[in-house]
Amino acid sequence: MRSTNLPNEGESIITSGATRPRLTFLGVGPLGGTYAACYAELGYEVLGYDVDAGRVEKFSAGELPFHERGLGDLVTKNLANGRLRFTTDIEEVAEFGDIHFLCVGTPSRPDSDSADLSYMESCVASLAPLLKRRCLVVGKSTVPVGTAAWVQQLIGRHGDPDVHVEVAWSPEFLQEANAVDDVLRPNRVVLAAQSQWAQDLLEAAHKGVFELAAVEDREVPLVVTDFATAELVKVAANAFLSTKISFINAMADLCDVAGGDVTDLARAIGYDARIGNKFLRAGIGFGGGCLPKDLRALAARGKELGVAESMRFLGEIEDINLSRRAKVVRLAAEMTGRDNGPAGPELSGTRITVLGATFKPDTDDVRDAPALDVAGRLAAHGAAVTVYDPMGMDNARVYRPELTYANGLADAVDGAELICVLVEWEEFRHLDPEALADLVAEPRVLDGMNCLDPQLWSNAGWMYRGMGRSSR
Ligand code: UDX
Repeated sequence: MRSTNLPNEGESIITSGATRPRLTFLGVGPLGGTYAACYAELGYEVLGYDVDAGRVEKFSAGELPFHERGLGDLVTKNLANGRLRFTTDIEEVAEFGDIHFLCVGTPSRPDSDSADLSYMESCVASLAPLLKRRCLVVGKSTVPVGTAAWVQQLIGRHGDPDVHVEVAWSPEFLQEANAVDDVLRPNRVVLAAQSQWAQDLLEAAHKGVFELAAVEDREVPLVVTDFATAELVKVAANAFLSTKISFINAMADLCDVAGGDVTDLARAIGYDARIGNKFLRAGIGFGGGCLPKDLRALAARGKELGVAESMRFLGEIEDINLSRRAKVVRLAAEMTGRDNGPAGPELSGTRITVLGATFKPDTDDVRDAPALDVAGRLAAHGAAVTVYDPMGMDNARVYRPELTYANGLADAVDGAELICVLVEWEEFRHLDPEALADLVAEPRVLDGMNCLDPQLWSNAGWMYRGMGRSSR
């Protein structure tokens, strides 16, 4: 940081002369795109930026480059009222913003589990030299602890030494399919700033969130902390959620051998408020663009910082998670009377329908999707696999072109010897087992997310297997 001089008394903290800080969001993927539209909705003037011209073009035309419930209406409305714009011009971004939010992707590096910060580096390096007036650069992307200080150094290296550019941090906690609500009505706001000026500006940027909460008679807890903690909050939260899921999946294995039902077990322990009933759905494990990579990156960063031993359990969490996928393949072989010999399950020629390809329902996102991976594994063991998903077909085809994709549900199940329901889409939860039985070759269903009613399916003549529900 070059200087922490406070503004003179009476001087506005906002340097553009606007009444509220003007906001830019750099990287308009699922994170920055959602933030941009929601903050325009909250009354801010917003400019979204991306190097991906296709994305910017789509947003500018009022179309979404990805699916997110409720986002389309906000984009259309705020483009029309002029508060929301998108650009590929970084100069325009530098000129416009009082606060620049860094929302670029931080995927795993191709050669290691660590986070790849190259998008962040090129974003900051291209923005910094163009900044001509005092402003704040705020990190939102999920990053390894230590990144905020590195961003400040980058700005020092690339920026004009006479321009005061300060770094602050404010992690996000968006859940896909609920992201609009998570931005407008966050369950907490975490802020880390290095001067009172930055703190005031950050609070001005969140005023809309607190005003909405007051109107709706809600509290939004505010945690003001240091850089390291703000960076760690996000990865710690994701690691904890992953731990809950792997814990209940380990209990599912125990239920399977002991003859218990993990869904009853989860319900029963969840009534203890200290445990809570969320994120205890046993099934095929967690996936998506965040939980798996954040878990790996946290373990890698812990190792770099010399606490590998304390982070060792994160590896177990991941192992349990990945072992779900092999378990589904084993169960498929068992259910179809195929060999589970030393060479592994043998499924040659077995016609298997996989229902679900996305990493969870209500999204078209197939990044690190357990369902799609299981479909690939079943095919690799010789099965003739047909996949159907209500929203993820286009993306699934790109990730897994070798699989067969059906035109619709009826087409997908036609002649199947086994149906694997691997994502708990509403459309699948409410399937009619009686009607479906007429379409399949064999009435066998593997309920990978424990989202079906075992009794209903058994009564309709189906062989039913869940994950950790051997008593059913
Ligand atoms: C996650 C975090 O929830 C969010 O706070 C963070 O900002 C980004 O990462 P998201 O990736 O959208 O959000 O997915 P989430 O809803 O958390 O689900 C992650 C995975 O866990 C999915 O594959 C889901 O099916 C699985 N899951 C979730 C379970 O297997 N069992 C559960 O009980 C809950």
